[in-house]
Amino acid sequence: MYSEKVMDHFSNPRNVGEIENADGVGEVGNASCGDIMKISLKIEGDVIKDIKFKTFGCGAAIATSSMVTEMAMDKTLDEALQLTNAAVADALDGLPGNKMHCSNLAADALHEAIKNYREKQG
Ligand code: FES
Repeated sequence: MYSEKVMDHFSNPRNVGEIENADGVGEVGNASCGDIMKISLKIEGDVIKDIKFKTFGCGAAIATSSMVTEMAMDKTLDEALQLTNAAVADALDGLPGNKMHCSNLAADALHEAIKNYREKQG
């Protein structure tokens, strides 16, 4: 049902945790299942130098969180904003149809964290 990449990121998630004194934080939830994802960023210049996630959710949500942190690391903010939910699912070699909504959390939380950083910068 799940690709090897999904199982790998679910069993061995990358960049788990929360950055202290983060430059930007984004939190999103899925109203239907109640799952929540939080992403924190350390930004230097215009580049994401560190990114961590905390996800209270299903296995697919954890795998997509882990993958989005790998995809966003060392990207500029504008590059990271181009990352879509579909791109995250593709990078995991796809998700079962009934689990596609889980990938919505990943890029959305990243985008929210960047928005939060930019708001703080004024
Ligand atoms: Fe809620 Fe997957 S079931 S994010």
